[in-house]
Amino acid sequence: MHLSERLRKIISLIPLEAGVVDVGTDHAAVPIALAKLNPCRRIIGVEYNDRPLRYAVNKVAAAGMEAVIEIRHGYGLDCVLPGEVEVAVIAGLGSATIIEILRKGDRVARSLSRLVLGPMDYPYKLREYLLLHGYSILSEELVYEYRWYEILVAAPQDVMGALLRPVQNQAGLVMQLEEAYRRKLADAADLDFQTQLELLPILSVDRDTAVNYLRSRRDGINRVLNNMPDVPGTRMRREQLADKLNVIGRVIDQLCR
Ligand SMILES: C[S@@+](CC[C@H](N)C(=O)[O-])C[C@H]1O[C@@H](n2cnc3c(N)ncnc32)[C@H](O)[C@@H]1O
Repeated sequence: MHLSERLRKIISLIPLEAGVVDVGTDHAAVPIALAKLNPCRRIIGVEYNDRPLRYAVNKVAAAGMEAVIEIRHGYGLDCVLPGEVEVAVIAGLGSATIIEILRKGDRVARSLSRLVLGPMDYPYKLREYLLLHGYSILSEELVYEYRWYEILVAAPQDVMGALLRPVQNQAGLVMQLEEAYRRKLADAADLDFQTQLELLPILSVDRDTAVNYLRSRRDGINRVLNNMPDVPGTRMRREQLADKLNVIGRVIDQLCR
């Protein structure tokens, strides 16, 4: 089965020995790839919708892996028991859905040692949720495959040396983010809270990847601005986007210095 760069990266972030649940498994591509790497561990795929559930069951059978991979029908982490696995992959879903899955499956999520999360939209909202709800963000990864994908590795504990550690409240998060950006960029005081959360991967990846990612975000904003009619009703939004462009340009300069 062909594996996208994004899924390859996700798989590379999972310890070889760990038992894994892949939530929203669809074609069971992740469980099958994990089973090929090490069939002697627990691998569970969870799927909520009937059609992808059938795909998953059929793909596992076609790969001859029914004895290694268990496909379960259900919602998120709800059909897994605490202690069954150490790692959860939740990827290819929107941030709101991932947050909902973590909320509903809180007991299981708290029992894991690692979560590999691949939100398809608004990753900053997922970061904020994690850090305000007792999770550390261990690292962030960026993968380019026709677009940038952001992958977060998190743990439901306070982990020393993590990229960001859990905080009690938003004020604590603001302080921690400012400190993290200062360490990386020397001067980051005028990045607003949301932008700091949005650009978090640049604190984790190598400089060239960070710069390419930022340039592509800048190009995206420019495209939106160029397509936005220059009328009074769009003025505020245009100003916000122009500010964001300035900020991103400044961060690129700082990284390239
Ligand atoms: C776009 S696919 C992603 C497949 C794969 N995880 C990936 O990253 O490429 C999303 C899958 O998640 C399933 N899904 C959505 N919400 C779910 C939930 N709460 N629990 C389990 N599966 C869910 C959908 O039915 C769909 O098959």
